Amino acid sequence: MRYATKFRLVVASVAVLAAVSARADTLRETVLRQAALDAGLILAEDTHVDVPPALVAVGKLLFETKKLSLERDIACASCHLDRFGSTDGLPNAIGTEGRGEGVNRLMGGGDIIPRNALPFWGRGSKGFDVFFWDGRVDGRAERMISQFAGEEPSTDPLVVAVHLPPVELGEMLLNSAGNETLQRETVESANQVYSQLEQRLREDPIIGPALARAHGVARSELRFVDMAEALAGFIRHNFRLKPTRLHEFVFGSGGLTNDEVEGGLIFYGKGRCAMCHNGAYFTDFLFHAIPFPQAGFGKNGFGVDYGRYNVTLDVADLYAFRTPPLYNVTKTAPYSHSGALYDLSDIIRAHIDPLADAKSIPSDKRQRAEFYKVLKRWSASPVAGVVLSETDIDRTVAFLNTLEYKSDEPVAAEE
Ligand code: HEC
Ligand code: HEC
Repeated sequence: MRYATKFRLVVASVAVLAAVSARADTLRETVLRQAALDAGLILAEDTHVDVPPALVAVGKLLFETKKLSLERDIACASCHLDRFGSTDGLPNAIGTEGRGEGVNRLMGGGDIIPRNALPFWGRGSKGFDVFFWDGRVDGRAERMISQFAGEEPSTDPLVVAVHLPPVELGEMLLNSAGNETLQRETVESANQVYSQLEQRLREDPIIGPALARAHGVARSELRFVDMAEALAGFIRHNFRLKPTRLHEFVFGSGGLTNDEVEGGLIFYGKGRCAMCHNGAYFTDFLFHAIPFPQAGFGKNGFGVDYGRYNVTLDVADLYAFRTPPLYNVTKTAPYSHSGALYDLSDIIRAHIDPLADAKSIPSDKRQRAEFYKVLKRWSASPVAGVVLSETDIDRTVAFLNTLEYKSDEPVAAEE
């Protein structure tokens, strides 16, 4: 065969192949778009709840001030930092008497909170009504569930949730000899803290008048719940969902790389991730046990955290945690309720093959026994039995990168 004919043949077959693969790619993209919609992805704007701008502005002041901690020691923004995607970059948060940000904070002493700080993306938007790792504030049912046990200060679950940090010992309330009466963590002692804080903020020359204007009441009438509404309004507005690259791909004309498309197909397909990470926020708002290693002391002490069980006291809920939403997950390392893992691919490996890394099996006898109990619960979950290659894992991480977006305004704790 003459070269020219051969060349023409090659060119023709490449063209055919290109056409086939272009069509094949489009098909994979179509499948991914449909899978994302079937799993509950909706337009970012459709999740929004409007908050009056004046309330957002004073909410930001409250978020950044240390005056919301009884000892003027720590601000919300000390742990929920912008550069760590609204968490603190630490495995376990450091509360009162902590100093500095990020890793410096680890060296500065201070009370350790036995849980990984949670970010705020989408919190309090439409349908986002379950808060904290163990769902201890839950506004889904007609009667809200929370520590206030029927005496909730508001019907808005995010407003109830923001009531907790200022009265949680070691978080914003100092564990010191001077305030024993406030350390009981009862509704009455919480109310004493709220009334001190509300008086302080009412009298504050900047926050007082701004808050009174935002609520349209006299300064003297301001209550703690008005402050909580402003804080909730700021969180709800500043961290509301914005269109990510995935939204642009599904609803607009944005493209994804080949790895991202393949990763998406794994996420919704054989990885079974979307069996739990689904809906508008990539969470089913349910509680599952995944055998991540437990870092730190644990909410129940000695390296144990019973998770959802602490709220329901139902043994079926032992070691279960709220499925975390996945927006901006690339920015919020370390991961899991105890911040045990820093790397997204390790997180995926721990979901599907918890025994792959011998280091994740605790050497301490009691902790090892707990670990095996988690393993037993996990073995009945949809991720047990998923097999992913290293390339699959890399591609799934590439897909998680498409869920990034930026908040409106950077936040920083006052000096
Ligand atoms: C000492 C560090 C620290 C401070 C200060 C702090 N938080 Fe948090 N925040 C955390 C940790 C840790 C969690 C997760 C706790 C858990 O789920 O058990 C959390 C969780 C939350 C959640 C739940 C988010 C979700 O996904 O359900 C909200 C809301 C919240 N914080 C609001 C605030 C507000 C408002 C302030 C200031 C009044 C504040 N936090 C101060 C560490 C902190
Ligand atoms: C059975 C339900 C379930 C399935 C299926 C599932 N997850 Fe999870 N995922 C969880 C729960 C629950 C946690 C938190 C557990 C904890 O902290 O103890 C979690 C944690 C995570 C985290 C850490 C997030 C953070 O902010 O700390 C990522 C990332 C994640 N999952 C991604 C995935 C991917 C990718 C898949 C598919 C390979 C997947 N998950 C499958 C329930 C599930």
